[in-house]
Amino acid sequence: MDWVKASLEAGKGLLRPPTEGAGPPPEIRPPPVLVPIRSLGANHRGRIAWHLMALDPHDRYLRFGFAASDEQIQRYADSVNFDRDEIFGIYNRRLELIAMAHLAFSVDPNLDACAEFGVSVLKSARGRGYGARLFDRAAMHARNEGVSRLFIYALSENTAMLRIASKAGAKVERDGSEAEAHLYLKSATLDSHLSEMVVEQVAQTDYRIKVQVKQFWDFLAGVQAIRRDIQDAQRNSPK
Ligand SMILES: CC(C)(COP(=O)(O)OP(=O)(O)OC[C@H]1O[C@@H](n2cnc3c(N)ncnc32)[C@H](O)[C@@H]1OP(=O)(O)O)[C@@H](O)C(=O)NCCC(=O)NCCS
Repeated sequence: MDWVKASLEAGKGLLRPPTEGAGPPPEIRPPPVLVPIRSLGANHRGRIAWHLMALDPHDRYLRFGFAASDEQIQRYADSVNFDRDEIFGIYNRRLELIAMAHLAFSVDPNLDACAEFGVSVLKSARGRGYGARLFDRAAMHARNEGVSRLFIYALSENTAMLRIASKAGAKVERDGSEAEAHLYLKSATLDSHLSEMVVEQVAQTDYRIKVQVKQFWDFLAGVQAIRRDIQDAQRNSPK
């Protein structure tokens, strides 16, 4: 199937091997692992708020440009426009949103081919390439939506974010404590659309499996709790 091959080829940024610290030398690195990144809908607002509130004040400052309070984060999560913008997320097996990105499309009709990228990864999940993969995923979607310029606003001290942007080919301009990076995107092709369909399907399937596995473990935990209660009651009942 040519289009599947083409899709995987075009989506290879999303198949970069995860980086674990310095890691083994390239020749003995494990084969690429797909990180399922799914598009999130309005029913994920609660988890989006949970994820952002799990960031410490410094990370909130890096993400939003100010140390957002829990109330401000809640307002942000409540106000995401899922009809216009796109939110991408990476869930772990416990269905915790460990990484997310917001691709915000321009509301200015003169700049309708522009979008802005913002991202956050929980501390416990950093350095595995999730930030870079979310960037690749968002750039793929932006391109398919007709965006030609993707902007990233970051503080100049934000080495990790600026590295993700410059490695993707973005031009970084620093202005004192702030930096702006912009990346020109290629026009969409049939292959880029098919690639996105494939990676989204894989991610949706992965999420459904995680939901089922979690429901199963929750059910087993419930059964165990009932069993323990019965055993305790039997032990404590008068002989
Ligand atoms: C920026 C952020 C998303 C990066 O997430 P991540 O998943 O750890 O990033 P990656 O693992 O994809 O690493 C990307 C690159 O940055 C480098 N990097 C990661 N952390 C770094 C650090 N603390 N200092 C220097 N470089 C770092 C990585 O080595 C990698 O470069 P490489 O590909 O050459 O090896 C994460 O640090 C974060 O959530 N920060 C708080 C919020 C924020 O700053 N958002 C960005 C502004 S919108």
